[in-house]
Amino acid sequence: MHFIALENETDFDGWRKAARTLALNNVAPANVTWSVPSDEPELFAPNGTPPLETPEGTFSVSAKFVDLARSAILHSDPERFALLYRVLWRLRGNHDLLQIATDPDVAKLQALNKAVHRDQHKMKAFVRFREIGREPKSRFVAWFEPEHHIVAATAPFFARRFADMAWSILTPDVCAHWDGHAVSITPGVPKSDAPTQDRLEETWLTYYASIFNPARLKTKAMQSEMPKKYWKNLPEAALIRPLIAEAERLSGEMIAAEATEPKKLQRREAPMTKTAHTNSDSLDALRDEASHCRACDLWKDATQTVFGEGPPHASVMMVGEQPGDKEDLAGQPFVGPAGQMLDRALKEAGIDRDRVYVTNAVKHFKFVPRGKFRLHQKPNGAELKACRPWYEREKAAVKPELVVAMGATAAHSVLGRATPINKTRGRVIELDDATRVLVTVHPSYLLRLPDEDARAREYAHFVEDLRIVAEHLGKAARAA
Ligand code: URA
Repeated sequence: MHFIALENETDFDGWRKAARTLALNNVAPANVTWSVPSDEPELFAPNGTPPLETPEGTFSVSAKFVDLARSAILHSDPERFALLYRVLWRLRGNHDLLQIATDPDVAKLQALNKAVHRDQHKMKAFVRFREIGREPKSRFVAWFEPEHHIVAATAPFFARRFADMAWSILTPDVCAHWDGHAVSITPGVPKSDAPTQDRLEETWLTYYASIFNPARLKTKAMQSEMPKKYWKNLPEAALIRPLIAEAERLSGEMIAAEATEPKKLQRREAPMTKTAHTNSDSLDALRDEASHCRACDLWKDATQTVFGEGPPHASVMMVGEQPGDKEDLAGQPFVGPAGQMLDRALKEAGIDRDRVYVTNAVKHFKFVPRGKFRLHQKPNGAELKACRPWYEREKAAVKPELVVAMGATAAHSVLGRATPINKTRGRVIELDDATRVLVTVHPSYLLRLPDEDARAREYAHFVEDLRIVAEHLGKAARAA
């Protein structure tokens, strides 16, 4: 038996070096025991296993396996080192092993990898910093409880996102710190070391309550995206229950009002047909595929891909520019301030947002960090081009009769060329593939107008454009 002691829970280089030596010495996986310092001492481990020779020779494995191994080693399963060595051992005899999804070792490896990615995603979304001290000497400190050993691997994401603030993420496992130049890792600490409140908390809670949109509330999706175990460390969690209760009260009132006064446009969707099912299946597959998109660099700093949402067979598709800060965290398009403006205008034009499919030309949030905030950056031509296939595939799946491009970026993607909005705004254009397109302004444009009169005028113009959409929806509903 060979006893391999790794330096720590995420010692990928140590594992790789040992695995290579073991494999070149033809040591079968069953004859290896792996350990890390925190493990109970091995009952039969000799005091110092005689070192294996490092023989001449080499062998190679695919970059895909190396990527998978690097990620899976972060899992908390104590069997992961042995599993990785078993897969490496078997890969030498079968280069296509990773393609066999039903193989139990491959399935386990993929499951570990998925769990690690999910944990990293939760960390990116649910870390909340609290400020300690006062600027210019303040430090932002967060408490987080990951399921796996992901802190060191995820810290560079926070270093990029919050490059110009000093921060620490404390966890029971290890802590990560950023001083503006380098990330350092120290041992874990108890939760009592983490601060519980800061002077910005009240502002954040007021902001959260103000952007909470009851019309967009999907309790189940929200709970699966933000499982209850994370609530205890989120300052805004205390608001969730009362906000949900209030949203339910409001929608109860809406349902009661609808029962007595049905409106023409609020006709129910036709029941899902076989075709509609196929559509929604392919949209789900697309959404899943897009969640791993690396076609440009925007995925690196964004929390997640924000794919479109709405009925999979909607006759209207509305396209914005890119997700903003709130959308990036929620994973849904148009749920922040621009989304509220859009909801208000849609309602005024007589459109039920649940009947339209809403998406963006670019599916990752592009921003520059400024202290605790992330400032929106316009996507460039290369990013727009890299993301366009998602819009095209989304459109092919939904098959909308009318596409509404909101703002210049969306118009560029939808029309396939840069076009001044004022040249095309407010009239329906037919494309070569028979898609009809309506170009209008972006709701954020209205939010940015400093002059109240101009804002009121432009808002009315936007609603006027949306009435063309309402007319279209009315026709589609009558034809159904
Ligand atoms: N702006 C957009 O273009 N899209 C969103 O989803 C949010 C803001």
